[in-house]
Parts: sequence; C-alpha cells; structure tokens
Amino acid sequence: MKIMVIGSGGREHCLAWKIAQNPSMEKIFCVPGNGGMSEIGECVTLHSHSEMVTFAQEKGVDFVFVGPEGPLAMGIVDLFKEAGIPILGPDRKASLLEASKVFAKRFMACYGIPTAPFRIFERYEEAADFLRRREDYPVVVKVDGLAGGKGVYILNDLDEALDALSEIMVHGKFGEAGRRVVVEDFVSGEEATVMLAFDGKDYLFLPSSQDHKRVGESDVGPNTGGMGAYSPAPLVTPQVEDRIERKIVHPFLEGAMKEELWYRGILYLGLMIDEYGEPYVLEFNVRLGDPEAQVVLPRIQSDWVELGLALWNGNLRDFRLQVNNQSCLSVVLVSQGYPGHYETGKKIEGLEKRTEWEREGIFLFHAGTEKRGDHFYTTGGRVMNVCALGNSLEEAYDKAYRVISHLSFEGIYYRKDIGFRALRRNSR
Ligand code: GLY
Repeated sequence: MKIMVIGSGGREHCLAWKIAQNPSMEKIFCVPGNGGMSEIGECVTLHSHSEMVTFAQEKGVDFVFVGPEGPLAMGIVDLFKEAGIPILGPDRKASLLEASKVFAKRFMACYGIPTAPFRIFERYEEAADFLRRREDYPVVVKVDGLAGGKGVYILNDLDEALDALSEIMVHGKFGEAGRRVVVEDFVSGEEATVMLAFDGKDYLFLPSSQDHKRVGESDVGPNTGGMGAYSPAPLVTPQVEDRIERKIVHPFLEGAMKEELWYRGILYLGLMIDEYGEPYVLEFNVRLGDPEAQVVLPRIQSDWVELGLALWNGNLRDFRLQVNNQSCLSVVLVSQGYPGHYETGKKIEGLEKRTEWEREGIFLFHAGTEKRGDHFYTTGGRVMNVCALGNSLEEAYDKAYRVISHLSFEGIYYRKDIGFRALRRNSR
C-alpha cells in the first residue's frame, strides 16, 4: 500500500508511525512532513491541493490521511473524492463543525446537544451593548472562523470583554475569521477530549485524553497549541462516557444525517465535564487532536489503515477496536519564547538512543524539526513530543521525564507537571 499523510506536526509524525506498522505498507509520502517523518517516509513539498491530487495519481497512492483542520476546511476531501482517491475526513460543508463556531453552535442548539447558552453577533456595537447589559462574568467570546487555537477569550469583567471585542471586531485581529463572534456563558468544570471514529452512520469511541493548553505549570499563561497530554483521562468514567454517548453522540448522528453532512473520519469532542459529571461541548474538531493523538494512538493495538478503510467503506460496524490497558503521557518540548517570538535552527542533542527507547515504549514524535545530515535542528515553536507508555500514569510520567533529561537544545522549555490533575486524583 502507498499512503499519503498531510501535515507536519507531532500528530502527523505519530500518524505516520502508526500507519507504518501496517504489514502491507510499501511507501508513505509525507506532505510536507518534518525531520522525524523523514525517517519513516518520503517528505514532499507540494503547493496546492490540486498538486497533491496529481501527485497521488502519479504515484498510485491508495489512501490519504489528513492531519490539520486547514486543508479539511478548504475542501481537500471533496477534491480527492472527486478524483476517486480514498481520503479520511469530512467534506467542506461538514468541516464547518470546526471551521465555523456559529455553524457548530447552531447545530448543537438545533439538535439539543448540551453546550453553553450563547448569542451570535455580526456588529461590534450590538455585541458591546449586550456585554454592557450583562451581569454574569466571566464570559466567553469566540471568533467564528479558524484562528489557530487563539480565537477563544475568557473574560473576567466588562473592560476585558470590550477590549477583546474591539481587538476582534474593530481592529480585525483575525480578519474575516473574526467578522462574527459567539458570546457564551462560562461553564466551569474540567476539560477532557473524547474522539470518535465516524463513518457517517456508525461510530466507535477512541480512548479519552486530556490536553494542557497553557504554557505555564498549573495552567497559567497564554494558550499554546498544546504543551502535553495523557490518556486515559480518569475524569471520563464509564458513567460520563455513557452520558456523552446519549446526550451528545446520538443527537450528533441525527443532526449529521438530517443536515446530510458527508463525514468519514475522526470527530473530536472538546468537552467540559461539570462537578456532577455532566458533559458540555466546548468545541467540535473534525480531526485528531494534537497533542491528544500522540497519547491515544500508541494505546491503540488495531491497525490504523484498516480502521481508515473501514471508515471509507462505511463498514465500521464490523471493525473491532483494540486498545491496551496502559497509560500514555506526552510532554511537548518547545523553543524558548513560544507561543510568542522564538528562535529556530538549534541543534537537538541526545537523540542517539531513540530506537532503544522505542523498544521501552517511549516515542519521540517530532513537530518543528528538520534533519540535516545525521542531525536534527529546530524549525518551530513546538519542537518534539516525548511520549511514554506505562502500566500506570505515574510510570508513564517517570519514563517520559527520564528521557527528557537526556535531550537538549538551546532554549529548551517544557512543563514539568503534565498529567497533574490525574496524578493528584490518583494520589487521593
Ligand atoms: N488539542 C486541541 C486541538 O487539537 O485542537
């Protein structure tokens, strides 16, 4: 089989690593890939989706996996589908579940999916009036379109809310993506990620996980693309999962059918679980989470390509997902200054034992790296995910941080408290 993986982050390296375990794998094309992916497949730079289709046709690619949301929102699935090349993901319209918060909130309201009460605004003055009349703070303001994880503001008082609104709607910080905003109630609780494989009619749950979005320990400082994750999330008990299934997944299926959404891929539920164990949808994403994929995929024993084929062929019902009982924890190594300004081109030291570590269940999934000669150099803010499997979360934590102590590059930074909520829960 020949496979194309689109993307260049830790999620895509992990995907390529998992796909490479398929016994009939012949070749993986990584578009554009990264330093770590160059050790698994051939990295190719292509400049448009139509170039990707032509390349896939010329090389006889059998299946395409897409990592990030951008290409999905632009309709890459529609293009490959038209060319008759199997690809996973939602089509352009179904991608609006992630690409438009307005679409997603209206969908949730229409099908009774629990989510925070909200209002939609297209004009600054109307939104500002609403905020001035409001007594309940904090309040959440969300940019409608894709904003690279930076479009959600939690605002503690009216001044903060008006500043944010002006940044978005008057100064146009997010351009067209910020033309409309959603203003919604703040829901308190603990966040968790639950992803589903979905073939348009049937679904199966992937293992739960929890992300760490803030740059600083104890969840302080600005939001990032993710500083680490772990799986499973003990917060998602069987009882909570049952509620997610009844209150969120079933109405989602009804909505997807009624709205005729073409969807064969992964659905990501970004959830808030309140103190009573009730789940609320914060966001839908239409792909694997990053860094959640890096802790979920290592726990899955089933073949990922076979899962992809079952999704594409619409026979997920006959697929049995096997998951190991271990915990997986991942720590993201970033460049000093991230998520603000940072330098690149730093040599990464200490990678020589990576094959030995892999045999111990410790995986290095690269993000912003490139390989020059025999060495790896940083090319981005998020550089590498150090992921470890363990018989407990504590063991996974110890293994990941032991390996990190051998790795270095100038300006390396990482959080030392990944998994703190679950570890605290376990020690009670
Ligand atoms: N970890 C959040 C996301 O993938 O959007």
